[in-house]
Amino acid sequence: MIIEPRMRGFICLTAHPKGAEQNVKNQIEYIKSKGAIAGAKKVLVIGASTGFGLASRITSAFGSDAATIGVFFEKPPVEGKTASPGWYNSAAFETEAHKAGLYAKSINGDAFSNEIKRETLDLIKADLGQVDLVIYSLASPVRTNPNTGVTHRSVLKPIGQTFTNKTVDFHTGNVTEVSIAPANEEDIENTVAVMGGEDWAMWIDALKNENLLADGALTIAYSYIGPELTEAVYRKGTIGRAKDHLEATAFTISDNLKSIGGKAYVSVNKALVTQASSAIPVIPLYISLLYKIMKEEGIHEGCIEQIQRLFQDRLYNGSEVPVDEKGRIRIDDWEMREDVQAKVAKLWKEATTETLPAIGDLAGYRNDFLNLFGFEFDGVDYKAEANEVVNIDSIK
Ligand code: NAD
Ligand code: NA
Repeated sequence: MIIEPRMRGFICLTAHPKGAEQNVKNQIEYIKSKGAIAGAKKVLVIGASTGFGLASRITSAFGSDAATIGVFFEKPPVEGKTASPGWYNSAAFETEAHKAGLYAKSINGDAFSNEIKRETLDLIKADLGQVDLVIYSLASPVRTNPNTGVTHRSVLKPIGQTFTNKTVDFHTGNVTEVSIAPANEEDIENTVAVMGGEDWAMWIDALKNENLLADGALTIAYSYIGPELTEAVYRKGTIGRAKDHLEATAFTISDNLKSIGGKAYVSVNKALVTQASSAIPVIPLYISLLYKIMKEEGIHEGCIEQIQRLFQDRLYNGSEVPVDEKGRIRIDDWEMREDVQAKVAKLWKEATTETLPAIGDLAGYRNDFLNLFGFEFDGVDYKAEANEVVNIDSIK
């Protein structure tokens, strides 16, 4: 069939397999162009199919010749209906990895569950023996805690008081004011249960208990801070509480890994267009202004550039891993530069429906959003028939 983007609100209901393949190939080419990284050789990526997790898998495989196991939660295709984008990304990744002679297998299912953890541990045991890097890159609105059976739903709300600010509908370009009512205690607890560090610690406990972590193994999860402009809805809101918890969990995990000489890190990454960030009010307007400035300054990065820099310059730089006063790796350093933030703050005041097309990078936002679903890539013939039923080599 001929596959076109079908939008509903903030999501796109279709995805393009050829575009996803192009996306993966572009990221692989980028990693190869930057040269070898003295990184891990056996890598588990939890949340491996899109965004920062996919970039981490590609960087490991094509920067360090690593064997990778990827865990994700994606919809396979059915006749007449496309898969979710991460399915196509993972199919393309495995094809390219196998062509390059690299081990790559994937597990599709709920990473929060005991069953998928069990399946992953068994696969590591059977195929790799141990892993020396575990990337934890899940972004989910919901988690069922396997110990309690309780299903938690995260919310994106301010804490303490209603937050009112500008936002943009990036499809129409309309800039409006949005008010978000504050969270209650339960909202906070639920969001921490979904996006905090509890599940990360469960994964590392399970791996360590079965001796599946190599000596000196590292694990890393991703966080975000951002500017004052978005603080009320992000870092000081419910999701910020979850990130506080995730960051604190890194210390608990590091204590646990001391006996094998391992360590847990959190890397604070840059704001980027993803399915998750598009759904947070205020953030798309911030990102469209930020992109404009960072592109003008020649310091714009996507997921793959961010993760390449994280691995090359921070995690595997051959000496100490540079961290901030809270022990976090900072690859949001260029986003948070004072001159960049001063310019964004100034544009923020000027942003209206009329001014935004000129002062912000709405076009770049939309392009990146469509890219998430495999659309708008150069070198792909979108008018051609595409086979929506694409298999992942390792998934039967
Ligand atoms: P994403 O939506 O692109 O990726 C999420 C991944 O998690 C996908 O592989 C998905 O399949 C997987 N997943 C979701 N629920 C799952 C489940 N139940 N079981 C198994 N897999 C599941 O998100 P992203 O933007 O790459 O986010 C990854 C991390 O990076 C998050 O912690 C996020 O907060 C953080 N981060 C994002 C940004 C940003 O601007 N996007 C910035 C800094 C940090
Ligand atoms: Na990810």
